[in-house]
Amino acid sequence: MTDPALDAEALRERAVASLVTARDRTTLLTGCLDEPDLTAQHSPLMSPLVWDLAHIGNQEEQWLLRAVAGQEAIRPEIDSLYDAFEHPRAERPKLPLLPPDEARRYAADVRGRALDVLENAAFHGTRLTEAGFAFGMIAQHEQQHDETMLITHQLRRGPQALTAPDPDPVPLFTGPSEVLVPGGPFIMGTSTEPWALDNERPAHRREVPPFSIDTTPVTNAAYQAFIEDGGYDDPRWWTADGWAHIRRNSLTAPLFWRRDGRQWLRRRFGVTEAVPPDEPVLHVCWYEADAYARWAGRRLPTEAEWEKAARYDPAGDRSTRYPWGDADPGSEHANLGQRHLRPAPAGSYPAGESPLGVRQLIGDVWEWTASDFLPYPGFRAFPYKEYSEVFFGPEYKVLRGGSFAVDPVACRGTFRNWDLPIRRQIFSGFRTARSEDV
Ligand code: AVJ
Ligand code: FE
Repeated sequence: MTDPALDAEALRERAVASLVTARDRTTLLTGCLDEPDLTAQHSPLMSPLVWDLAHIGNQEEQWLLRAVAGQEAIRPEIDSLYDAFEHPRAERPKLPLLPPDEARRYAADVRGRALDVLENAAFHGTRLTEAGFAFGMIAQHEQQHDETMLITHQLRRGPQALTAPDPDPVPLFTGPSEVLVPGGPFIMGTSTEPWALDNERPAHRREVPPFSIDTTPVTNAAYQAFIEDGGYDDPRWWTADGWAHIRRNSLTAPLFWRRDGRQWLRRRFGVTEAVPPDEPVLHVCWYEADAYARWAGRRLPTEAEWEKAARYDPAGDRSTRYPWGDADPGSEHANLGQRHLRPAPAGSYPAGESPLGVRQLIGDVWEWTASDFLPYPGFRAFPYKEYSEVFFGPEYKVLRGGSFAVDPVACRGTFRNWDLPIRRQIFSGFRTARSEDV
C-alpha cells in the first residue's frame, strides 16, 4: 500500500482485531469457572486466574493509557499487586487481589479507554506507537497470559471446563525422518517485523554448519521407546544436573502421564485418555528432551539451527517470516490459537512445511533448543528491561515455534520463548538434530 492514510486504517483495524481476539479468549478462559476456581491457586507454579486477569488490564493501562496517551493512573494503589517482579507466583493468592467481578470491570474499563486511544493514534513519530507497536505488544502480552491461564486449566484438578474439536486425523507420516539443512550463513532475527519484540532484534548474519533435523517433532511413541528402554534409569543419557533433578523428584515419564498396566494414560484438561502414539510428546522438561536426544544418538538443535530450518529459503537465498513464506498464519498452515486443545499428529499441515520440507515448526508444541537465552548482537531493551533483558543468561533455555495454545499474533519464525530447564507444565516438546560433515 502506498497511501499512508489507508495504511494507517489497515493498521488500526489490525490492532483492534488483535485486542478483541485476545479479550475474547481471556473471557472464554475465565468465564467457564466459578469464583472459587478463579481465586484458588491450582499450582504453586501458577497465579490464581484472577491475578492474570487484572494483570492483563494493568499492563494495558500502563502502556496504552499512561505511556502512549499520557493519562493518569486509574487505580495507582493496585499497580504493585500486579507487578510480576514484586510478588512471585507462589505468594499471589495471599495478596488483597481484586475479586473476579472487580477485576473484569477494571480490565473492561481500561479496554474501553484503550480503544479510544487507538482510534486517534498516529502510527509514526514515536518508537512506541510506530506501526502500532504498543498495541501489538499489549495484544501479545494478553495472549501470552492466555496461554499461561490455559496451563493453569491443565494443572487444575476437577471436571473438564473447556472443550474444542480435535485436529483432523492424518495418515501416518511416512516421509523422510530427517531433513538436511546445507551449511552457510542465513539471516537470523528481524529488524523489519513491526510487532516483533526486543529479543527478536536486530536481524544479523549467522554462519550455521550443515546439520540434519527431524522432519516432525518427536512423538509419544518414540518417547515411550526411550522410557521402555530404561531411559530414566540410565545416567549415561542425562547431564549431571538433569540426572540429579529426575532422581530427586522421582521423574519417570512426562508430566500428567500415568502407567496403567502395559498402557500409558495421561490427563488432559480434566479428562484421562490413552497417550496417542502419533502425537508430538508434550510436557517434557529440557533435561528430558536433552536426555532423549542423547539416547537417540542425536542432540537438540541450537536456536540458530531451528530458525534456519524454519526460515531459510535456499531458492531466494533469504529468510522468510514463517516456514511457509511471508503470509500470516492460516488454519491450513499450523495448529495455533487454541483452536484445538492438543497438538496435531506428527506429519500434519503439509501446507505449513518449510522450503526444505520440515513440518510443524510453528504451532503444536513449543520446541526446546540447546541454546541459552542470550541477546543478539546489537540488542537494545525496548520498551522495558523486564520483558527480556533481566532473563538473559545461562539459567534459561530457549523454546521456539509456539504451541497449539499460542495465538498467531504472538508467533513468528523469529519469536523467542524461554524457561528454566526443569519446567514441564508448559506446552513443551522438541525435535532432534545431528551435525553433518562439512
Ligand atoms: C515470554 C512467556 C516467558 O510469561 O513469563 C508475560 C511472557 N512477560 N508477561 C512469561 C510475559 C510478561 C513471558 N514468557
Ligand atoms: Fe505479564
